[in-house]
Amino acid sequence: MSTTNHIDPKSVPEHIAIIMDGNGRWAQSHGQDRLFGHTKGVDAVRETLRAAVDVKVKYLTLYAFSTENWNRPKEEVEGLMNLLVMSLANELDELNENGVRLQAIGNIKGLPEYCQESLREAIDQTKNNTNITLVLALNYSSKWEIREMVKNISSKVQEKTVSIDSIDDELISNELTTKGIPDPELLIRTSGEHRVSNFLLWQIAYTEFYFLDIYWPEFGKKQLNEAIYNYQNRERRFGLVSSQIKGE
Ligand code: IPE
Ligand code: IPE
Ligand code: MG
Repeated sequence: MSTTNHIDPKSVPEHIAIIMDGNGRWAQSHGQDRLFGHTKGVDAVRETLRAAVDVKVKYLTLYAFSTENWNRPKEEVEGLMNLLVMSLANELDELNENGVRLQAIGNIKGLPEYCQESLREAIDQTKNNTNITLVLALNYSSKWEIREMVKNISSKVQEKTVSIDSIDDELISNELTTKGIPDPELLIRTSGEHRVSNFLLWQIAYTEFYFLDIYWPEFGKKQLNEAIYNYQNRERRFGLVSSQIKGE
């Protein structure tokens, strides 16, 4: 029996976030250049997205480009931006066929204009789809997002449209680029690294982590289902004790 058969449809995470890591090392281990690894990474995205739709995940957030990634060699950064634009164009029909609504989080205004344009286009053309929301984290940095939130709330306090006492978790969440998106129940990272790399720091306060040693181009349906199955066999206690969770 495959792992899909073991997945309990009633407790599939509503939101899964993935740090897609290891494209470069995968390519190098196959004697190829890093960009070849990123291209293969897009194939893994397509397969993972289909698998997520199949098991009715409602939000899939993919860390595609961090603010720190601008510091990589110029050819790699340019290659990644071109790959983004090409993939959005190539995958648009598939996104619509699978009922995928596209969204983006991060400092989108800091992307080259031609990337912003193709993102706007893909977001607009998929906006009525309802099976799943694919959230691409682009030029994303959690510390940037938190800094912007602090600035925005501070100016509202200064303008007296927000009182200090009314600042709560909900108000903060609504000032982040993930506004309206529920916090992920499950965060997956490939490539053997055990770190968060400036991703969704506020949103993962109670998220379950799942790390795999394989590189991102090797990830697909089987691995997604295994991660969900593993998640379903954990006890999320949220600070309580086990008997409280079990209602004993
Ligand atoms: C993840 O793979 C993709 C991006 C960060 C854009 P990497 O490019 O980080 O691959 P490694 O970690 O160097 O192998
Ligand atoms: C995290 O991967 C960012 C993305 C997957 C887009 P990195 O490869 O940039 O992270 P570090 O540098 O290993 O922490
Ligand atoms: Mg990496």
